[in-house]
Amino acid sequence: RVVAVILVGGPTKGTRFRPLSLNVPKPLFPLAGQPMIHHPISACKRIPNLAQIYLIGFYEEREFALYVSSISNELRIPVRYLKEDKPHGSAGGLYNFRDYVMEDNPSHIFLLNCDVCCSFPLPEMLEAHKRYGGMGTILVIKVSAESANQFGELVADPITNEVLHYTEKPETFVSDLINCGVYVFTPDIFTAIQDAIMQRNDRANLHRETSFEFLQSATKALLHADFVRLDQDILSPLAGKKVLYTYETTDFWEQIKTPGMSLKCSALYLSQFRHTSSHLLAGGGDTRCATIVGDVYIHPSAKVHVTAKENAIAINSIVGWKSSIGRWARVQGDGDYSAKLGITILGEAVAVEDEVVVINSIVLPNKTLNVSVQEEIIL
Ligand code: GDD
Ligand code: GTP
Repeated sequence: RVVAVILVGGPTKGTRFRPLSLNVPKPLFPLAGQPMIHHPISACKRIPNLAQIYLIGFYEEREFALYVSSISNELRIPVRYLKEDKPHGSAGGLYNFRDYVMEDNPSHIFLLNCDVCCSFPLPEMLEAHKRYGGMGTILVIKVSAESANQFGELVADPITNEVLHYTEKPETFVSDLINCGVYVFTPDIFTAIQDAIMQRNDRANLHRETSFEFLQSATKALLHADFVRLDQDILSPLAGKKVLYTYETTDFWEQIKTPGMSLKCSALYLSQFRHTSSHLLAGGGDTRCATIVGDVYIHPSAKVHVTAKENAIAINSIVGWKSSIGRWARVQGDGDYSAKLGITILGEAVAVEDEVVVINSIVLPNKTLNVSVQEEIIL
């Protein structure tokens, strides 16, 4: 049996995602019409013998309750939200709930970051992992040398695919092969995390006995003993020890840290729907709507008139719930997804009045715009 764990973080994380994360936790923000975590969760459905999916985070339980019960029914796989009392780090969060994760006595555990967008080739990863015979297999991808430093960089043996070296967000270039934040482990991962915690405690105690200067930092280390990062604290020290391997994806992969990236990833998922779930895309034959150009998702509650054309236009923009755009108004971004003001974002319940032009701007919730703005943040 196999279980999957998705790390969803909490309200102190995902701050770069504001203002979109003000009213909805970032993992539930819709991409291509589905909550962000819906995409990895539905990919888990393809894993053979999947017993359970856990979401681990420090958001309030009630924020996930509705989604968790509806997705469990839809996929007919139990999905449970497990709340940490405080952030434990990516490995600490998993370790904290080891008893739950091991409940089904799984042979393998998938671990996924919630804020990555890819085709999640999970069954293929599992096959490769079994062939390697290691403790963990990391999904990796080649990126440009200039962008690699935003991620965990690793060096792998070209023949065996073993991870020889791992550094998290290094200042000087190490490798253009990066960690995609998608892993499969054997239950030995829990022993590895436990060993790391024990070694850290031993070091802290040693310092306490031997040197007064270290007292303060050692006490601090003990206080944070259960905060363990998967990348720096676990993966890095295990590189070159014949326990970690890589599986390289040649498909798309992006990280979703900013609202601009959520637009880019929506487009990636919509074009993937063409091949995987074309029923979700608005079709030309659909009499509900006007002419459809490209890959478009229309929410079941939306009404689009057959002749819809109010002479208003929205391009490269995120329009918040309950917002309105007036006649001849223009809401637009350049489509530079990684720039701070490369798209336009209207927060919840923003009204753009007739003929107003909003370009490359962020408008916070509950504003009414009656003059045109460009490259501005409207607080
Ligand atoms: N439950 C829980 N508790 N989840 C957490 C915690 C925590 O204390 N801290 C982070 N997470 C979740 C985040 O929500 C995210 O899904 C995932 O863990 C990783 O977040 P970070 O630890 O902040 O790392 P990162 O996103 O900057 O980088 C990681 O992912 C990249 C791929 O997207 C690293 O592993 C990089 O090496 C990697 O390239
Ligand atoms: P009109 O429809 O009379 O404007 O002539 P047109 O079709 O030659 O205009 P144009 O080529 O400039 O634009 C093509 C269509 O895009 C227009 O029919 C408009 O509906 C729409 N459009 C272009 N620019 C704007 C704009 O700034 N605001 C709005 N609301 N719509 C625009």
